[in-house]
Amino acid sequence: MAGRRRGPFIAGNWKMNLGLHEARDLARKVVDAEPELRECTTVLIPPFTALETVRGTVAGSAVALGAQNLYWEDAGAFTGEVSAPMLRDAGCAYVLVGHSERRQLFGETDGTVNRKAKAALKAGLVPIVCVGEVLAERDAGRTLERIDEQLARGLESVSGQDLERVVVAYEPVWAIGTGRTASPGQAQEVQAHIRDRIRKSYGNGTADCAIILYGGSVKPANSYPLFKENDIDGFLVGGASLSGLSFLGIAREALRAYGEEK
Ligand code: PGA
Repeated sequence: MAGRRRGPFIAGNWKMNLGLHEARDLARKVVDAEPELRECTTVLIPPFTALETVRGTVAGSAVALGAQNLYWEDAGAFTGEVSAPMLRDAGCAYVLVGHSERRQLFGETDGTVNRKAKAALKAGLVPIVCVGEVLAERDAGRTLERIDEQLARGLESVSGQDLERVVVAYEPVWAIGTGRTASPGQAQEVQAHIRDRIRKSYGNGTADCAIILYGGSVKPANSYPLFKENDIDGFLVGGASLSGLSFLGIAREALRAYGEEK
């Protein structure tokens, strides 16, 4: 297979963690490591409350800011929600859409994922669209079918031009926060399938450039072999993104694998 030229994309999803001081400290550690991360796209995804603090800390660096969720309307009487234009205003370039915790705990569906992804694109944000099967689906041999469903519905009527701005994250639900990572082979099978679906719907150019992340118990010790797989372009990191040491360790391991491919 031709060598990949999609440099590592490393995103840290802090979930509902970190106060302002801790957020600033962690963001500072990542910014300080920037010279060695030049070939990485690095995104920090703090809770809404810390967006402004992290924005201030990463300002002037190449480290980008993302949010964990959004609502699809631009403004109005939607108590507790935050819109895509508001996130843009707060300095975000990225937003997670359809994370499995949102799907499982907060009732998000492929339909709401679609509305959110389109709202993000309309506002100029890059949606990181999360897909992944639950254990029962994997055990029943339905993994690829479930991924197809999530992609077809979640990206319904997204144009080819817009799709080029979408990042897809494959996160097997059974691997998130469980310490149980998909093996490189298991992850690659699904990642290749996702690229193939994009190829069928949008053509070779879009598929070859598509950024497809893996997420689920990524840590420094497993990121090198995962990134070695041809269709894993980087990581969506949860638990291990809460420490500078492990988050940067993951980035370094991905860069090591990337450097060997050149
Ligand atoms: P984890 O979470 O790395 O803690 O498994 C990944 C995610 O939820 O994005």
